[in-house]
Amino acid sequence: MTITHPNFGAMAHDRVIIFDTTLRDGEQSPGFSMTLSEKVRMAEALAELGVDVIEAGFPIASNDDFAAVKTIAETVRGPVICGLARASPGDIVRAAEALRGAERRRIHTFISTSPLHMKYKLRMEPEAVLEAITASVTLARNHADDVEWSAEDGTRTDIDFLCRAVEAAIAAGATTINIPDTVGYAVPADLRRIFSTVRERVPGADGVILSAHNHNDLGLAVANTLAAIDGGARQVEGAINGIGERAGNCSIEEVVMAMRTRPDAYTFVNGIETPNILKTSRLLSTTTGFDVQPNKAIVGRNAFAHESGIHQDGMLKNAATYEIMTPDSVGWTKSNLVLGKHSGRAAFRDKLVQLGYGEIGDNRLNEAFRRFKDLADRKKTVFEDDIIALIDETVVRDHERVRFEELEVRSGSKGPSTANLVLTIDGVRRSARAQGDGPVDAAFRAIRELFPHEATLALFSIGAVTPETDAQARCTVRLQENGRLVDGQGADTDTVVSAALAYVHALNKLLVKRERREPEAMSA
Ligand code: KIV
Ligand code: ZN
Repeated sequence: MTITHPNFGAMAHDRVIIFDTTLRDGEQSPGFSMTLSEKVRMAEALAELGVDVIEAGFPIASNDDFAAVKTIAETVRGPVICGLARASPGDIVRAAEALRGAERRRIHTFISTSPLHMKYKLRMEPEAVLEAITASVTLARNHADDVEWSAEDGTRTDIDFLCRAVEAAIAAGATTINIPDTVGYAVPADLRRIFSTVRERVPGADGVILSAHNHNDLGLAVANTLAAIDGGARQVEGAINGIGERAGNCSIEEVVMAMRTRPDAYTFVNGIETPNILKTSRLLSTTTGFDVQPNKAIVGRNAFAHESGIHQDGMLKNAATYEIMTPDSVGWTKSNLVLGKHSGRAAFRDKLVQLGYGEIGDNRLNEAFRRFKDLADRKKTVFEDDIIALIDETVVRDHERVRFEELEVRSGSKGPSTANLVLTIDGVRRSARAQGDGPVDAAFRAIRELFPHEATLALFSIGAVTPETDAQARCTVRLQENGRLVDGQGADTDTVVSAALAYVHALNKLLVKRERREPEAMSA
């Protein structure tokens, strides 16, 4: 039977929908929270990447989540915009409100179906869960034609009950049925079996899209997702760089490149513009402050590096000897060297477009260009990574309450260090002077003096954006307050300035997070 989907029309049998949850499940991981402007920027990058669905957030979770879903729904064009809701009227109505401005929208509602979750988490009898499925999907369908229903902890659900639950969701009007491996427990054979059983046994299953959502606790999320496709899934859910709860989600770039590289095994099409993969991955790393590990498939620094002599020799003779896909097919360019101090505004603007920052307004361009010139004066060669770090400071974080302005430090082997700091707080320029045990401590104390807060420093790390001695330092600061964790990032050729930028970034994220309810109550 051909599936006619409310948002995608008549679906070809070989089409796999790419559902990105970087901004929802991904953003739920500790330290990965993003501000509104960061989320919008990321959603624009996901649209350029060609994902079919962007799960933009969990609107009931906080005013900030609501605002993010609403703004993305109103401004980002191309993908279907989706909002998450538990099986309760309040959640569903709030999600519908947030999605009102979307060109194409989806409500995603879920409830647990495994014996463990029903008994201990929901404290509900199975029959009551079935009733909740019918009620929640029916209500969601009153607000949107495109409704996804998820069986949380689906892979640990009794298969007979899972089939009844899926049947109830389809009968109530769900157009996509998602069976998550919420705790990352399943192995590929489980996924293949569960999906093919649901497809064969549940009336109406051939008229909806089956979807896989796998967590990576055993490092099997991508393998499990491919196995689910074998079993009949035609939507895959995942996140850029594989971020997500605990060990993360299925990595979008890995599952997409597995299908692209092995069309003999996976004869499916999707709409991903693979040359945009790397810049999307980097934007996420820069925004969240978490780099991927060097050996990460597709987007890790070493993913296309060949160290051993035998491999290098083979590569020189024919790259296919050791490369199963070309680096440029996922966005790696040969030379990362870009602009110098004589480069003009037009070249700078072109580079920004190439790096995925699209058309930025004149004011932001002027500010970014001014900072670039300043950087080029201090640094011999400016690399793409330098520009990404710089743009993150000027363009992505433009709605923050606390803004870094100036810092001057005096430090050395004798006596305490002193920091003179200027911040703009809620539009008012303020300055403070503080002493500390080293320049970073002095700078952090000055920030606390200007913006008093109780958060403690849980992590401070420094790395270099590029390899030379004039490289920009990239600092990460993790702040902790009442169980909330946030990470901030800063980059500058001056290490102490970079540390202060990272602290201020973390502080802004904390202010956003303070509005949210406790994570346990909202976990999905
Ligand atoms: O992992 C999970 O079960 C989820 C659902 C809300 C889809 O994230
Ligand atoms: Zn999940």
